[in-house]
Amino acid sequence: AEKSYEYIKVSTPRAGVGLIELHRPKALNALFTPLIHELNTALKTFDRDASIGAMVITGSHKAFAAGADIKEMSTKTFAEAYGDDFIESWSELPNTIKKPVIAAVNGHALGGGCELAMMCDIMYVSEKANLGQPEIKLGVIPGAGGSQRLTRAIGKSKAMELILTGRNFSGREAYEWGLAAKCFETAEECLEGALGTAETVAGFSRIAVKACKEVVNKSQELGIREGVEYERRVFHGLFGSEDQKIGMSAFAKKEKAQWTHR
Ligand code: HXC
Repeated sequence: AEKSYEYIKVSTPRAGVGLIELHRPKALNALFTPLIHELNTALKTFDRDASIGAMVITGSHKAFAAGADIKEMSTKTFAEAYGDDFIESWSELPNTIKKPVIAAVNGHALGGGCELAMMCDIMYVSEKANLGQPEIKLGVIPGAGGSQRLTRAIGKSKAMELILTGRNFSGREAYEWGLAAKCFETAEECLEGALGTAETVAGFSRIAVKACKEVVNKSQELGIREGVEYERRVFHGLFGSEDQKIGMSAFAKKEKAQWTHR
């Protein structure tokens, strides 16, 4: 069913690809609760939609997202933050979405905006993207996983320096440090690149794609030995899928695989 949203735009610009554009231009896509709820709903709707194989989240050329909404947060008390588990609802993207999500980051991606980009499975950036964890300047710390995900991605010393100083970094730097998988010259190329990759992923067996995401993410939580064993069990499990038979027999027949996603 078509849903109508106020702070995001949702479309399917390529075969199998769900696109979510953050759209709160007056506040540079500052991430307040109603926007996060819409984002979660849109992600879950695409995740359940059998015609969708991968998703892209982007913002505008000016801002991916300029952070959590500072005006919404400024008067919050400890009891409200703790009592309502403030920011916990942001965890739906990394914890419950099974299909791959690519972030196409242009413009500002600061604080919660940088964290949202890091929650995605792949980050693409353009040269002039402006990323950072400036929370220290507001008297707080990253609250949506920034201290954990940035540190895992780029190492402790660099992450510590960035988080302690609040210094911003460019899309080019994010790419050079391995936080972003690709860096494009322009915002248009960045979004096109993300949609192209999402389309490629959406062209594969949904079963295999889901398993790839699951095992790569496990590497972030398990030691190498358990991780390799986990991967092998999931690999074994795929011999129970139709698509394993389809993919391997298509190779032998020099044909293109016609996936059933079963
Ligand atoms: C609320 C914001 C906002 C934010 C921008 N706006 N960022 N509102 N929360 N995070 C609003 C501005 O108040 C302004 O509204 C409008 O968007 C346009 O912003 P300007 O500042 O006029 O634009 P510009 O001069 O181009 O500067 C862009 C900017 C700056 C450098 C990105 O807006 C900025 O520094 N924003 C805050 C970045 C930040 O500190 N983010 C981290 C937030 S803390 P009006 O009404 O005046 O036009 C955080 C904590 C995460 O994210 C922890 C858990 C998630």
